[in-house]
Amino acid sequence: MTLTTRTPSALAAALRDIQAPVRTDLSAVSEELWRIVSADVPLVQEVQEHLMGMKGKLFRPTLLLLSSSIEDRSPPKAVTFAAIIELIHLATLVHDDAVDHSALRRGMPTVNALFSHQVSVIMGDYLYLRALRELVTIGDLEAMRSITFASNEMTLGEIRQLGAFDALAFSESDYETLIRAKTASLFMAACDVGALCGAPQYRQALTRFGERLGMAFQVADDLLDYTEQQEMTGKPSGLDLKEHKVTLPLIAALREMDGSSRARVEALFASLEPEDEAIAEVVSIVRTHGGLDYARRRADQFSREAEEALLELPEGAARASLLDSIAYVVERRW
Ligand code: IPE
Ligand code: IPE
Ligand code: MG
Ligand code: MG
Repeated sequence: MTLTTRTPSALAAALRDIQAPVRTDLSAVSEELWRIVSADVPLVQEVQEHLMGMKGKLFRPTLLLLSSSIEDRSPPKAVTFAAIIELIHLATLVHDDAVDHSALRRGMPTVNALFSHQVSVIMGDYLYLRALRELVTIGDLEAMRSITFASNEMTLGEIRQLGAFDALAFSESDYETLIRAKTASLFMAACDVGALCGAPQYRQALTRFGERLGMAFQVADDLLDYTEQQEMTGKPSGLDLKEHKVTLPLIAALREMDGSSRARVEALFASLEPEDEAIAEVVSIVRTHGGLDYARRRADQFSREAEEALLELPEGAARASLLDSIAYVVERRW
């Protein structure tokens, strides 16, 4: 693991640097996104206003735009594709927060907390379908295929997560299948569609990069759930354990546990509403059994594979930013 812990402001600066080559297009992405969403319906307008106040990192649009400008400036349609990708991401977050019973996202109340579960379900669908409608309007079949395949995978990933009935039997390979589906697939689509818009001969390398980066991104996210406070991440910490979600730190630690530690974990998983103290205790068990270190090493391996995939690309500002995005992904704190 790159053990240099960058301060929040250094990380924010790193993200700004990564986004610098596509800064102008990235501002256009947000405008494009809200244009696609807007409708003359009061509930849509209310939810839209709320969502517009929640600022995300725009990481997937950044990847798409950088991938589309490997050889040259990115073409205008890349902005619309980038908005579509971010919209799909947003739709999954709206649904994911309802499924995870989460009250906080990007430092703001979630749609399910502020409105209701019903509104989350219907608005998530609405956001997805607006993205799809826009995609069909563009009519690029290859991009459509890439993005709809990814959306399909993401849904299957979320279903897999929900359907794991013997949570503690969840293996590392089950976990990797899951995160490839729920997270890496959209990273892959972002890079793939970017390549399609710019230099299609790099599709394979960029898709491979997106996949490995997406895996690293989710492992890092699962670590943040154990290590960071909600004031930093903008979402609740310890929520995965509370929701009985088994992620890599726990999977790795379980392999090292004796009977009594395992019994504490089992007790937490048997409890419908685990107390904060029980969560804190399991977090500490996971740490002392090397679960966090193991996950960090795995994130580093994914990073190195992402880096290797970039070797095939021509040098330039876009490739340099993609390279910097790898370190950012594993060091990020929100
Ligand atoms: C959150 O993604 C969902 C995961 C795949 C872990 P981001 O961390 O990119 O969320 P925003 O868009 O910046 O809020
Ligand atoms: C990623 O999983 C969610 C999606 C890919 C939809 P998480 O449930 O870990 O994401 P956060 O932590 O809520 O952002
Ligand atoms: Mg979640
Ligand atoms: Mg998470």
